[in-house]
Parts: sequence; C-alpha cells; structure tokens
Amino acid sequence: MSLFRRKKKYSTDTMDNGAKLITAANPKNPVSEQFRTIRTNIHFMSVDKPLRRIAFTSSSISEGKSTVTANMAITWAQDGKKVLLIDADLRRSTLHRTFELPNNRGLTTILTSGLSKIDLNEVIPNSGIKNLDVLTAGPIPPNPSELLNSKRMLNFLKAVEPMYDLVVIDVPPLLEVTDTQVLSDKLDGIVLVVRAGVTQKAGVTRAVEMLKISKARLLGYVLNDADSEDAAYGYGYGYGYGDEE
Ligand SMILES: Nc1ncnc2c1ncn2[C@@H]1O[C@H](COP(=O)(O)OP(=O)(O)OP(=O)(O)O)[C@@H](O)[C@H]1O
Ligand SMILES: [Mg+2]
Repeated sequence: MSLFRRKKKYSTDTMDNGAKLITAANPKNPVSEQFRTIRTNIHFMSVDKPLRRIAFTSSSISEGKSTVTANMAITWAQDGKKVLLIDADLRRSTLHRTFELPNNRGLTTILTSGLSKIDLNEVIPNSGIKNLDVLTAGPIPPNPSELLNSKRMLNFLKAVEPMYDLVVIDVPPLLEVTDTQVLSDKLDGIVLVVRAGVTQKAGVTRAVEMLKISKARLLGYVLNDADSEDAAYGYGYGYGYGDEE
C-alpha cells in the first residue's frame, strides 16, 4: 500500500478549450444524426409527462457529460425548441469555453445575489446558435452543493420555465460529489452518460442506486464512444434501470 494516492490523469481539455460541437459544425455528420436519435429516444420517454428540465450526468469524471450535454442542447435547438443550457458543474465548468462567453457572471451570481437583483437577460446570453441561450457557471463558490440545493435554485428554475421549452443542465458526476443528487429532485429527468471501455460497471450500478434513493427519474443512458474505432465520437442510447450497457 502506498502512502500517497497517485493523482488520476483526468482530461481538462474541455475545461481549457471547450467541448467539440459537432452538431453545430456539421449537422449532416453521422454523429450529429446519432444525437438526433438520442433526442427522439428521450422524447419517447416523455409521452406521459413533458420533460422541461433535463440533466446529463455520469458516475465519474471525464466520461463525456459536457460534450454530450452541449451537443444535445444544440440538437433540441435545431429542432425549433427554445433551449436554456446551464453549466451547473461548478467545479469543472466548461460552457464558457465551449461557447466562448465571459464567465465573470453566471449561475453562481444568480444563486448568491438572488433573482430580484438580477436582470436575467443580461446574465443569460445567446450562444450564437439560434434558439439556444447559455448560462455559464460563474465564479466558483466554496459551497457548490448548498447553492444547487438552495431555494434560490428552485426559484430560478421556475422563473425561466415560461421563457424556454427546455432547460438542459450539465452537472457533476454522481460518485464524486453530492451536487447532482441534491439537484435531482428539482428535475424532470436525468440521463446517465456511460463511456465505453472506461466507465466501471460497479460505478454505473452505484450511480443508478443513488438516483433511485434521491427519487430521480432516470430516463436512460447515452453510451459515449460507441464504435470508436470507426469514428472519433460515437453515441448510442439505452434506457431502463438494468445493466444492459
Ligand atoms: N466520444 C468521444 N470520443 C473521443 N473523445 C471524447 C468523447 N467524448 C468526450 N471525449 C473527450 O473526453 C474528455 C472529457 O469529455 P467531457 O469534458 O465532455 O467529459 P465530462 O464528463 O464533462 O468531464 P468532467 O467530469 O471533467 O466534467 C474531453 O477531452 C473530450 O474531448
Ligand atoms: Mg464536464
């Protein structure tokens, strides 16, 4: 047993350079088509109850959440939905890099100052993509879990509801911090991103258990890196609480 745990080599690529927006750059690419298939599958899950607030999470770090979340938000916007994409991964935020937006204000500004003191139109810019507005994370606070679990967060989500058809949220991994679990009861559904060849089966099982405990509605999972020998990015979609990954 070693005294010091070796530091895991997580990618900071999307934190430094932003996620790759294939759906915006090349809507005809097969990968963009895969995102549209995921959109359709998620739509099938919402027949009984309309989904207005969706988050994408994963069991651990660097499994492709931010890439999937941003591309899914674009895919919904391309379908004519008015979409708000929120960066609620306050510890490893990426959206300001992905959409090249300032991050001196963002979600944390709204949560620390309160809605009454904020002009939402000023804090939430358009992404440069039609129908898609983006709320960046804002300055990193010392207490992300409390902020996401606050009444202000719920009030904010309620306040933007009349303005958007869909709110899509990038959240931290379930097994790393409690942020996503505490946020999940404010959402209509959660999709688990699973990275082929990387995500541990035990991690998925534990993540699903945690979602069940917090009474979150698991809509299904996105298999990231599917068929990655053929293309740099590949995506599949499955659903249910089983282990059919
Ligand atoms: N399908 C894929 N094929 C190849 N590389 C990918 C794929 N999906 C994501 N990546 C790369 O993996 C890294 C992590 O992706 P991303 O930041 O989207 O994951 P994340 O789960 O949001 O990570 P974090 O836990 O840091 O928030 C990035 O460098 C990204 O470019
Ligand atoms: Mg991320």
